[in-house]
Amino acid sequence: MTETEDKRKYTLKDRTLFFRLFKEAKPVWYLFVLALIAILIMTYAKAMRPKVISNAIDIYIEPFLKNSGISATVAKQGIKAAAKMFLLLLVIELGFSGVKNYLLPLAGRKIIYNLRLRLFAHVQKLPLSYFDKTPVGTVVTRVTNDSSALNEMFNSILTGFIQNIVYMGFILYMMLISDVRLTIVSMLLIPVIVITTSLFRIKARKIFRITRTKIAIINAFLSENITGVLITKAFNMQKRKTKDFDKINKDFYHINMSKIIIMGVFRPLINVLKYLTLAILLWFAGVQYMDGVIEIGILYLFISYIGEFFQPLMQLADQFNSLQSSFAAGEKIYTLLDQPVEPDVATRHNFDNIQGEICFNNVWFAYNDEDWILKDVSFTIAPSENVAFVGHTGAGKTTIISLLCGFYEIQKGSITIDGIDIRTIRKKDYRHHIGLVLQDVYLTSGDIFSNIKLNDPNITDERVIEIAEYLQADSFIKELDDGYRHKINQGGTVLSTGQRQLISFARALVYDPKIMVMDEATSSIDTHTETILQNAMKRLMKNRTTISIAHRLSTIQQSDKIIVMHHGEIKEKGNHQQLLNKGGLYYQLYKLQYNHVSANESIKN
Ligand SMILES: Nc1ncnc2c1ncn2[C@@H]1O[C@H](COP(=O)(O)OP(=O)(O)OP(=O)(O)O)[C@@H](O)[C@H]1O
Ligand SMILES: [Mg+2]
Repeated sequence: MTETEDKRKYTLKDRTLFFRLFKEAKPVWYLFVLALIAILIMTYAKAMRPKVISNAIDIYIEPFLKNSGISATVAKQGIKAAAKMFLLLLVIELGFSGVKNYLLPLAGRKIIYNLRLRLFAHVQKLPLSYFDKTPVGTVVTRVTNDSSALNEMFNSILTGFIQNIVYMGFILYMMLISDVRLTIVSMLLIPVIVITTSLFRIKARKIFRITRTKIAIINAFLSENITGVLITKAFNMQKRKTKDFDKINKDFYHINMSKIIIMGVFRPLINVLKYLTLAILLWFAGVQYMDGVIEIGILYLFISYIGEFFQPLMQLADQFNSLQSSFAAGEKIYTLLDQPVEPDVATRHNFDNIQGEICFNNVWFAYNDEDWILKDVSFTIAPSENVAFVGHTGAGKTTIISLLCGFYEIQKGSITIDGIDIRTIRKKDYRHHIGLVLQDVYLTSGDIFSNIKLNDPNITDERVIEIAEYLQADSFIKELDDGYRHKINQGGTVLSTGQRQLISFARALVYDPKIMVMDEATSSIDTHTETILQNAMKRLMKNRTTISIAHRLSTIQQSDKIIVMHHGEIKEKGNHQQLLNKGGLYYQLYKLQYNHVSANESIKN
């Protein structure tokens, strides 16, 4: 949640948002209708209670006291009946409030359940470029906190809001049918209350917004510093960090204090207005009673109704604020849902058996606008050919792989596999032909088996073991507790980088892909493991198109073709010997590493 997001005005007038939220409730509309009926019955019963007592006073007690033709037995019977009625109303109110309290959360939960599912499915379809620009924490907040805020809205706020308005409406109606003049007197201070409440609302909204931003800042600070606790320790920054946190924490404390203060002013103020109204009423109605214009029961009725009327009024201001913050959450959720998903082809291409020929034709690509990262890149990789990309850091090697996998859309040119433009093939139809091994290995929580199979039920344990043995990874796996059943936590931090790399190799190989892509795959593996892998790779590359990227030129010398990249352009193509003979960029790169190696060697000697 950023401050700019917060500054946007969310108002109930935001009709499209309101209608979208309304549409969300469509599948469970019947629950809302039932709940609304329950609210109507319940609040009506509640509003009727003072009326029953007032009637009992006016029809039985008062005439009896004044001895105006009503016998004690009739009066007693009447009072008994009124008491029974009162009880009945209470039971009705409680019963239907129970019904409502069951139905609304049920409806809310169903809506949020569907919404979260839709959000998660949508997030997975978003293009990678979205995640380049949006912190993961924000997306997580959308799916968890913001959808909870909406749940809150459908639940308590909407209930409270509608219920309070309906209740106040009933009270007003009862007052009006009982005595119009007294109703007007009771409502004399309403304009003052409306003004006070609006002022409070404006002030409170500001404070609530700042609070939300501060919470986001605290969360961001905590997650950043707890994740980076190693750096904090290594650079002895504990004191400094605590001081930084103290400042943020103090801000949060102060804003919370202002919240308490404003609440502390508002509530007593409304209370004062309530008692003022009571005083005015008492004075006016008292005189009327003395003059014999109204009966005592009506006076009682109005006094109780004023008490009842002010209670929901106080809550409404609060609820209105919460409603607005729920709308803000809704707005954020819809912004995410409206993000365009990764473009994909709907129809299935027959792409089951491929040769593995890859072609880049005059490809131009930029992550942002016209900031070209690849400039007019063209190359062809024949089926089963082994090609290596080399070049300085930032030359665009990883970008080429991302484009081949269809993670980003190119701006100009075309990329083909077996002569078919990848934009015309369903992503999942061609991605499963590509075995991808990246430098950063992401392991999921689970055991070694599940990390290699990635929950694909078509892959057997035997196949996993076969591949692991083939890669000579089984020796380290067997040494783990429980072997292949060894539990890995998310991120797989307990395994060494090389071990994780081996798992990612197995993961790619287990599908027997026609195309293998390795980005710096062997750079973090020790020389011994690298030899193991390279032997396996050699057998593996047979009948497979392979693209490898490596900084250590020693690992790619055997490649059929080496493509040298520089600032997003292809500078040289050829095999190791041809490029060396050429004496160009590759030669320089090689010489640089060679000198480096011989220098290291001379140090050792
Ligand atoms: N997701 C991204 N959004 C914006 N720019 C990016 C993104 N990824 C890479 N770049 C930029 O694209 C350029 C090429 O990056 P790329 O990762 O392809 O380089 P590379 O050749 O793989 O480098 P290295 O050898 O260090 O891995 C760099 O200037 C980089 O800053
Ligand atoms: Mg790279």
